Amino acid sequence: MKFTYYGHACFAIETNGTTLLFDPFVTYNELAKAKNIHAEDLKADYIFISHGHYDHIADAVFVAKHSNAMVICSWEIMNWLLEQGVTNVHPMNTGGKHNFSFGTVKCVVAHHSSSMPDGSYGGNPLGFVVTTADGNFYYAGDTALTLDMQLIPRWTTIDFAVLPIGDNFTMGPEDAAMAAGMVQTEKVIGVHFDTFPYIVIDKHAAEKLFADKQLELILPEIGSSFDV
Ligand code: NI
Ligand code: MN
Repeated sequence: MKFTYYGHACFAIETNGTTLLFDPFVTYNELAKAKNIHAEDLKADYIFISHGHYDHIADAVFVAKHSNAMVICSWEIMNWLLEQGVTNVHPMNTGGKHNFSFGTVKCVVAHHSSSMPDGSYGGNPLGFVVTTADGNFYYAGDTALTLDMQLIPRWTTIDFAVLPIGDNFTMGPEDAAMAAGMVQTEKVIGVHFDTFPYIVIDKHAAEKLFADKQLELILPEIGSSFDV
């Protein structure tokens, strides 16, 4: 699988020729703008939206309309997207699993909140466990550390986890390292850090904290791609 980071919690995973895009948000991210990344650059066959906050959905309508990708999100976010003319949507909710062309998606608990940019209710925030012929991974979305994460290895052996580590609104590095233990992976890609003053982290300290626990923390450069 190929991982491409677009900044904040926006990333793409290419698996067997299918591009899965998560939480499209670049237009209002100064760090992505500084790397010359624009919504037009976001390619997708499927778009996953973890919850309705603008820093996860701001570019979703644009990218969905340009790519005609299928959007996977909560029922409530689907209704918000339908109002804006996005029609290729597959609604899911916590605990549910579905088979798509690229593999299986299981929606898991994320302890957070979810309101849409217009203030309407966004349904449950979601995490995603994605199983493909190419490998398996967990994207936590925005969440606190939660004991529910212990269920994930009972369902799926994952190759890596994409976890928020910016603290303040979500897990910070210490809790993300504990989450890695709960989901039984040694490889974590950290997201949701540095974008705003509230979530600026000491990256060297975070990497050391993980290394001390024999865990690998990847804090990708915005715009970078690598194999996972
Ligand atoms: Ni959020
Ligand atoms: Mn967020």
